Amino acid sequence: MKPFVLLNSAMTVDGKIATENSSMQISGEQDLIRVHELRKKYDAIMVGINTVIVDNPKLTIHKIKAPKKDNPIRIIIDSKGRTPSDALVLNNDAKTIIIVSKKAPKKNLEKLEKKCDILVCGNEQVNLKEAMRKLYLKGIHSILLEGGSTLNFSMFKEGLIDEVSICIGSKILGGSTSKTFVDGEGFEPENCVKLELKNIEKIDNDVVLSYNVLN
Ligand SMILES: NC(=O)c1ccc[n+]([C@@H]2O[C@H](COP(=O)([O-])OP(=O)(O)OC[C@H]3O[C@@H](n4cnc5c(N)ncnc54)[C@H](OP(=O)(O)O)[C@@H]3O)[C@@H](O)[C@H]2O)c1
Repeated sequence: MKPFVLLNSAMTVDGKIATENSSMQISGEQDLIRVHELRKKYDAIMVGINTVIVDNPKLTIHKIKAPKKDNPIRIIIDSKGRTPSDALVLNNDAKTIIIVSKKAPKKNLEKLEKKCDILVCGNEQVNLKEAMRKLYLKGIHSILLEGGSTLNFSMFKEGLIDEVSICIGSKILGGSTSKTFVDGEGFEPENCVKLELKNIEKIDNDVVLSYNVLN
């Protein structure tokens, strides 16, 4: 058994989610409110370590009024335990689980385990299937995956994403090194991820598309 996973992201009209090494706000305030309403419905929010390093997000519900107890558990996929010990995602607003691999240096883990739970899955990079199984057993049955593009690809590759919700902000970023919605090594055309369109919603100047993942 594995948790239900919704991948939620915002991209520009040209499919970018950030420049090479800095973040930007892509969608408008109304979409951010939608995302924070969504966070309320999930057991956990999950991101990759580079998103923590570049964006330093809190990953809490703070765009709408909500008691602290409504904050989902925060999960970071971080093979080597590189999460900075002063990262906002380690603040007291919610519980945090960092998923590392056996490769994580002990000295990194000693710093982090004072502030969060550590789960070891995999030898080199985090084994995402094993991570999902262990999280399910811990009672985490739904996850809102919030990027970045490398983790998004791996989660698709492992067949772990059930639904996609993508907000297209009315901006164009360009740049061949900018991050796209899904990067990684990519799929062969015959193996690309097939989606079923469920809904189209206009929110101010943005469009939110919702899909089921078919394979
Ligand atoms: N617009 C949006 O909605 C949005 C949302 C989120 C992020 N972003 C942007 O995305 C950028 C970060 O994306 P990113 O692609 O660089 O990084 P990322 O997906 O956030 O993190 C990738 C890292 O996760 C770790 N990881 C561990 N196990 C993994 C596995 N099995 N598969 C994949 N990754 C694994 C790897 O580092 P280790 O090997 O060291 O563990 C890998 O380099 C930032 O610029 C951020 O601003 C945008």
